[in-house]
Amino acid sequence: MPAPTAATSPTSRGSRPAPASWSSCRPLEFIYCAGVAVISFARGVPAPECLPVEALADCARAALERDGRTILSYGSPSGYQPLREWIAARHAVDPGRVFITNGSLQGFVFLAQRLAPGKRVLVERPTYDRPLKILRELGAEIDGLHCDEEGLDPDALEQALRAGERPAFLYLIPTFQNPSGRTLSTERRRRIVELAREHDLLVLEDDPYGLVRFEGEPLPSLLELSGGETAYSSSFSKTIAPGIRVGWFVLPEALAHELELTATATYITPVLLGQATVHEFVSRGLFEPNLDRVRGLIGARRDAMLAALDRELPDVRTTRPQGGYFLWVELDGIDAGELLPRAEAAGVTFVKGTDFGGEPDTLRLAYSFVSLDEIADGVGKLAAALPAAV
Ligand SMILES: Cc1ncc(COP(=O)(O)O)c(C=O)c1O
Repeated sequence: MPAPTAATSPTSRGSRPAPASWSSCRPLEFIYCAGVAVISFARGVPAPECLPVEALADCARAALERDGRTILSYGSPSGYQPLREWIAARHAVDPGRVFITNGSLQGFVFLAQRLAPGKRVLVERPTYDRPLKILRELGAEIDGLHCDEEGLDPDALEQALRAGERPAFLYLIPTFQNPSGRTLSTERRRRIVELAREHDLLVLEDDPYGLVRFEGEPLPSLLELSGGETAYSSSFSKTIAPGIRVGWFVLPEALAHELELTATATYITPVLLGQATVHEFVSRGLFEPNLDRVRGLIGARRDAMLAALDRELPDVRTTRPQGGYFLWVELDGIDAGELLPRAEAAGVTFVKGTDFGGEPDTLRLAYSFVSLDEIADGVGKLAAALPAAV
């Protein structure tokens, strides 16, 4: 079992008993710090009620009955062909450019292994901590670029492109970013696409949260704006279930072929049963209604967290995301690393901003997993742990 990292682990510190069972419905609902149950705003995972358990059970059975001889054997390293075709149609690209992996993070590892070792890689600052760790372990030189309320600052990108070694790629989460919840404006998306073209820069647009939108109009993806030149990744982890482990990439053809070789050398074929189950789910027309349900469940949590923050911490600056799982808190000089043990002793936890390359006085709150009552309770505990001046 892989060790959880800070982004989704129940806690990155303190002691807790091992969960009784990893297979129970809410194995990590509570974490424990010195024997106290702690509400987790650290877990970037969907609440259990988001998971369409019965429908997936039916779909898995139907997929096996219909196509068992294919999906129970070895197959293409790029994934289950009918699902590749469904994804390709949604992105209006050739299925040969769609590469399906056991979750999108695995595809990121493949891509980074090919492109990043010993090279400069541009990222947003802050950004998702797992890619940071992967890139660090591959010996990449990570260049974190300035972001503000509208996301990545294109001037910072331009400056980085004019100075220093040519980057292997830019890793970007433009919509409901992990960890900040920020969304890159359309104007900036266009400018970044232009800069990438001008400097022959490969951009990897990571978009697992884009469809989990509670309000506002969807923005064009960089993939669309670039006429298909951008590399793009997404996942069914947030729209169906993370445990199904189905993520995908839309890649330039040559790169798709290179990653196929890595996939073959790693696992021969990804898990086709999960992919065929997803294909059955989408073919039955269940994807959009499930997404609406998930948007309602997670959106209610976002509302509850913003309301609790407005009530308990009216002077603290936070992002107000229109979708996704996270919001970002700025503490005006208070060290989140020092606050964390106090918060855990009070019964609530979060991930400190420095884990994502952020400033010491920032932190990430995930509202996706906890219940509405836990949100109200947890924000109250967080407020109690903060110095009175805040
Ligand atoms: C920005 C981002 N990319 C990728 C992933 C990984 O998704 P998957 O479950 O498809 O591996 C996550 C998961 O939290 C994420 O936040």
